[in-house]
Amino acid sequence: MDRNERLARIRASLDEFGCDALVVTKQVNIHWLTGFTGSNGTAVITPDSLAVVTDGRYETQIRHQLQSAGVDAELTVTREVEQPLRAAVAAAARVGLESEDVSWAAMRRFAGWLDGRELVPTVELIELERRHKDPGEIQRLRLAASIADRALAQVRPELNAGRSELAIARMLEAAMLDFGADEPSFATIVAAGPNSAKPHATPSDRTIEPGDMVVIDFGAKVDGYGSDMTRSFLLGTPSNRQQAVFDAVIDAQAAGVAAVRHGVDEREIDRVCRRRLTDHGLGEAFIHGTGHGIGLEIHENPILSSRATGILRSGYVVTVEPGAYLPDLGGVRIEDSVVVTASGCEPITLSSKSPTAC
Ligand code: GLY
Ligand code: MN
Ligand code: MN
Repeated sequence: MDRNERLARIRASLDEFGCDALVVTKQVNIHWLTGFTGSNGTAVITPDSLAVVTDGRYETQIRHQLQSAGVDAELTVTREVEQPLRAAVAAAARVGLESEDVSWAAMRRFAGWLDGRELVPTVELIELERRHKDPGEIQRLRLAASIADRALAQVRPELNAGRSELAIARMLEAAMLDFGADEPSFATIVAAGPNSAKPHATPSDRTIEPGDMVVIDFGAKVDGYGSDMTRSFLLGTPSNRQQAVFDAVIDAQAAGVAAVRHGVDEREIDRVCRRRLTDHGLGEAFIHGTGHGIGLEIHENPILSSRATGILRSGYVVTVEPGAYLPDLGGVRIEDSVVVTASGCEPITLSSKSPTAC
């Protein structure tokens, strides 16, 4: 899908969302639509125009990025957004604002600038289109996932070398940069022993030791697109209980991945994983949702939880990441990212799921 097709899809949604024009303020949405990656921009989409406003810091960059992306936009370089904004929506009676991005203060500013027009709070108008990944986006996500796979393979032996959680996190991040990542896709999680029972623990200077359960959750970012994977390890000789929890999560995760297919209710993936863990006596220990889309944001639509409302479609890229967290024992989470296809899914996370490090 090229940028013009993305723009056409958004234009086709305007009326359904009750607006004649959409003001785009969320920067990743501007990136997705136009290729511009600066930190300050506003875009206005109408049925027959696209206006983009940024400030002087980005003049050279935005001209280059719009041209590379094949985007034909009315560009204004200024710190004063009011005039170009008013000009862009001149023919629109109903102007959409991205309600989950626009602060109260910004909304009041827009209301002053657009006095007399109806402001329409839109929800996920662009995000719903971003669920569908085109081949170029999937290629970036695959590359990001493979960089993370390579980094883990390189760093895995270090789990047995008396390193701290922080040291392992830094090694993973350095390896990802060496293998071509632009940056980590989010703050790396390395959680050992009791910390592994906290799903989003911050790496500490705790030394990783035999007997620890270790959860490692990390990813690489390539050209804006971030991968997301989790592997868990049992160090030393695992207890029967540790092994049982590990095996249960592996089983639930495999069942979840097996359930992913075009046309399936998104809630079903969560249901399948939760049912399996409940069968293993660990239903109460699975304390988060099962997965989410990945792309320009690390958590994006669709969110695979019991509250999901959609249907999976070919071309979505989602995670499947059940876990079990027992404060007196530790935690296990296994997370793959997969591309939804007509007949099932294709994992882009390819690291071994073996619980024994190296
Ligand atoms: N890295 C956070 C998550 O897996 O959702
Ligand atoms: Mn993750
Ligand atoms: Mn995730």
